Amino acid sequence: MDNISRLMFAVVMAMAYMAMGAEAQNTTMDPNSTMASNVTTAPVVNTTATAPTVEILTAECGNSQLCASEPSECNPALAGSCFFISTQQTSGQNISFQLRGVSSGYIAVGLSTDNKQGGNDTTYVCANNNGKVKFFTALLDNTVLTIISTLPVNSVKGSVNGQIIQCTFSATVPKATVTRSPNTSFYLSISNGTFMNDTLGSPKNFLFSKEAVDLADPNAKVTNSLNSAPSGHAFGLSQALLILLGVMML
Ligand SMILES: *[C@@H]1O[C@H](CO)[C@@H](O)[C@H](O)[C@H]1NC(C)=O
Ligand SMILES: *[C@@H]1O[C@H](CO)[C@@H](O)[C@H](O)[C@H]1NC(C)=O
Ligand SMILES: *[C@@H]1O[C@H](CO)[C@@H](O)[C@H](O)[C@H]1NC(C)=O
Ligand SMILES: *[C@@H]1O[C@H](CO)[C@@H](O)[C@H](O)[C@H]1NC(C)=O
Ligand SMILES: *[C@@H]1O[C@H](CO)[C@@H](O)[C@H](O)[C@H]1NC(C)=O
Ligand SMILES: *[C@@H]1O[C@H](CO)[C@@H](O)[C@H](O)[C@H]1NC(C)=O
Ligand SMILES: *[C@@H]1O[C@H](CO)[C@@H](O)[C@H](O)[C@H]1NC(C)=O
Ligand SMILES: *[C@@H]1O[C@H](CO)[C@@H](O)[C@H](O)[C@H]1NC(C)=O
Ligand SMILES: *[C@@H]1O[C@H](CO)[C@@H](O)[C@H](O)[C@H]1NC(C)=O
Repeated sequence: MDNISRLMFAVVMAMAYMAMGAEAQNTTMDPNSTMASNVTTAPVVNTTATAPTVEILTAECGNSQLCASEPSECNPALAGSCFFISTQQTSGQNISFQLRGVSSGYIAVGLSTDNKQGGNDTTYVCANNNGKVKFFTALLDNTVLTIISTLPVNSVKGSVNGQIIQCTFSATVPKATVTRSPNTSFYLSISNGTFMNDTLGSPKNFLFSKEAVDLADPNAKVTNSLNSAPSGHAFGLSQALLILLGVMML
């Protein structure tokens, strides 16, 4: 191998290594660590917070729970930017939600009956209130979240760990309009925003489903309409090509 080949090989290997590093999630957080939790529930029907810890996992995805995340298939149990939602029908319009995301303010899940957000869409909000989760139900009218206290929710739990907010709750979701079947089908969104002086800033979306998805169907596929980034699979392939290229140059 002449010096130029050696140099090119080194450059290619370094690129492959960096690409792999970028893909790896930060795993320094112990998935078993129990986070302190203290929930303030604002306008909810049943404000009883049960267990003191919240740990949101992917174990039931596709089994008993519908899951969606951005980036797709990110692990909510690890540190780093992962916006994750899972849902499970308990009965009829009653759905349990597990929400995890990154924010200094709040994270939220929105249920829209059409593919346009903001027509007074039902929104469930978990805010970081001085290190404790404060829960709100709200309506999204255009880009403004208005807190309302009449949406039925109970069993709220939550925890804040730095910028990571996790919360779980049970909600009686509104009946999706007659155009949707079944009644638990919605366009699903995950967003974050600021929470200052008890005011919720406009939400910034990280996921908005391309189709209405049935929150009661663990096997429903959620495609993120906002995500134009290449999939993890394509990325893996490009890494393999880089390494192959490096090996061929030996
Ligand atoms: C990984 O997460 C830990 C704990 O949250 C943090 O201290 C560290 O800076 C992170 N490392 C990277 C490379 O993001
Ligand atoms: C995490 O918890 C499970 C079940 O309690 C246990 O089997 C496992 O060894 C724990 N892992 C770590 C890294 O502590
Ligand atoms: C929650 O916070 C309140 C007041 O800050 C405290 O009295 C209570 O013991 C805390 N509960 C838990 C479960 O940490
Ligand atoms: C849904 O939950 C509410 C509040 O917990 C309860 O009153 C209602 O009976 C439940 N509905 C069904 C169909 O289970
Ligand atoms: C919302 O999440 C993004 C991506 O993790 C982050 O850059 C942004 O600071 C978050 N917004 C707030 C208000 O914390
Ligand atoms: C949302 O609800 C408010 C209050 O009921 C109403 O004034 C507003 O017109 C509604 N917006 C939409 C888009 O339906
Ligand atoms: C409130 O939620 C707790 C925990 O899920 C439950 O034990 C309790 O029965 C509920 N109370 C009412 C009035 O629904
Ligand atoms: C949807 O709601 C309507 C009206 O309450 C009811 O008749 C119908 O059975 C529900 N459909 C499903 C699939 O639950
Ligand atoms: C929050 O309230 C403080 C004190 O009342 C005020 O100085 C600050 O401008 C407010 N911040 C926002 C974002 O409204």
